[in-house]
Amino acid sequence: MTNDIERILITEEQIYKRVRELACDINDYYGGKPIVAVFVLKGSAFFASDLIRWLNMDVTMEFMSVSSYGMESVSSGKLTIKRDIDTDIMGKHVLIIEDIIDTGITLSTLERLFRQRGAADIKVVTMLSKPSRRIVPFAADFTGFEVPDEFVVGYGLDYADKYRNLPYIASLKRHIYENNGEE
Ligand code: PRP
Repeated sequence: MTNDIERILITEEQIYKRVRELACDINDYYGGKPIVAVFVLKGSAFFASDLIRWLNMDVTMEFMSVSSYGMESVSSGKLTIKRDIDTDIMGKHVLIIEDIIDTGITLSTLERLFRQRGAADIKVVTMLSKPSRRIVPFAADFTGFEVPDEFVVGYGLDYADKYRNLPYIASLKRHIYENNGEE
């Protein structure tokens, strides 16, 4: 698995430090108010788990799995929800936790969905953002790192459902994704 790595972009130590900084900012923002933390699966699993253990308010954990279909989902406001949250978020403070914002389509659509469901407040925290890839303008409220337009894996991020369990964030060798993983 590690033979497929081009270079490490963000080390385990950098991730650990940044997650704690983000948690401090989030704690300051909420000032002790309870929140619903929505893990957007699968990519955010590690980041969200690491982040919420540093939060100092009551946190309800919720899990969501979605697929978006490009611009169509933005204009229609529809996402395919593969797994929905269990909680009624009416009047609640919702923190959406993502691993990466790329085109911005998933998050802009998800945020609209939670607004329609009556959340009192919606904030988004993402570990990574690739601003150069945006199709719709979207800025997270809390961002761990901005990354260049490279194929990144690890710490939850995958290629063909592999590499999620790498403890760091790395770029993948070009031949892996250009040849569908064949040598
Ligand atoms: C990734 C990521 C976001 C979405 C961002 O999920 O976790 O949900 O893509 O892309 P966008 O800004 O272009 O909409 P993915 O569909 O790869 O699923 P996964 O988390 O299960 O890997």
